Amino acid sequence: MKETIALNEVVTRDGFQSEKAFIATHDKVALVNALSQCGYRVIEVTSFTSPKAIPMLSDAEEVMATIDRNPEVVYSALIPNLRGAQRAIDAGVDMFNLVMSVSESHNRSNLRMSCAESSAALSEVIDLAHQHNIRVNVSLSTSFGCPIEGSIAKERVLDWVSHFAQRQVWGLSLCDTTGMAYPSLVSALTQQALDLFTGTLTLHFHNTRGMGLANVLAGVQAGVRSFDASLGGLGGCPYAPGATGNITTEEVVHMLDLMGFDTGMQLDKLLSAAHHLTQLVGRTLPSQLLKAGPITQLHKAPLQNH
Ligand code: COA
Ligand code: ZN
Repeated sequence: MKETIALNEVVTRDGFQSEKAFIATHDKVALVNALSQCGYRVIEVTSFTSPKAIPMLSDAEEVMATIDRNPEVVYSALIPNLRGAQRAIDAGVDMFNLVMSVSESHNRSNLRMSCAESSAALSEVIDLAHQHNIRVNVSLSTSFGCPIEGSIAKERVLDWVSHFAQRQVWGLSLCDTTGMAYPSLVSALTQQALDLFTGTLTLHFHNTRGMGLANVLAGVQAGVRSFDASLGGLGGCPYAPGATGNITTEEVVHMLDLMGFDTGMQLDKLLSAAHHLTQLVGRTLPSQLLKAGPITQLHKAPLQNH
């Protein structure tokens, strides 16, 4: 029996939030609908943030109301505060992805709060979610390094892991917001996090420095079975200096399928959605698989000159 690894798609949230030109609501809906047929466990559809902070996602309610839901997929949204949580409940999201940074500087830049203030605010949101039987995942940004503060002590991250483990959240994500993770750090941190947290531990990498797939492999070897990724490799936090795209979903799926894992994903559908995304954003995406095709795509022999 193949071992299962779950994929969570973040393109319509992490991918779109820093795009300059507004992507029409019906295009967002069409993309989510296409992705819903690809085999994901979770699709992070949007965020219920301040429309001034993230104008691209100001249509969160409309997107949630219009998508065709596949009952096999969990539709989540990023929630920064209680106000966002209430909006998301009204919009019928299945799961909250709460966010705070483990670094004070990035947390202030992104959420305008200290880490302690964020933690107190998230605690209220967790209570509200549990009252409404909504699943909660907490994303710990800058877990592998902060673009403002530099490296982050492992103990600091693990303290937050223990804290949210005690709050009995469904999932925790260790997020590499600006691509500062490297494989030995991923191994060390995730092994200890898995000892402290028995829920679903997800890794969220950005490929800012080309270490994304190596980090996925380190995570898999450490025992992680859930990864965030973004179609085409689009992505980046607008409040993290130097942030660029997430690891590319189709590349992660291609690699894990070749290695014999069961991702449950349909690569051909993913690639066609990624082609469509290229047209939507009007430029070439970071995805190398989109350029080269899967290894099963063979070529005619070049003509010989004799
Ligand atoms: N949804 C809609 N509006 C919201 C909101 C929410 N979740 N949270 C705050 N607002 C509105 C307030 O009503 C207020 O509006 P007004 O100026 O018209 O009165 C304005 O935003 C400021 O509210 P305030 O409570 O002072 O919050 P803030 O300015 O400190 O913003 C955040 C805090 C976290 C809500 C905001 O910075 C944000 O949404 N950031 C996005 C973070 C993010 O998604 N980063 C990338 C992903 S990691
Ligand atoms: Zn991210």
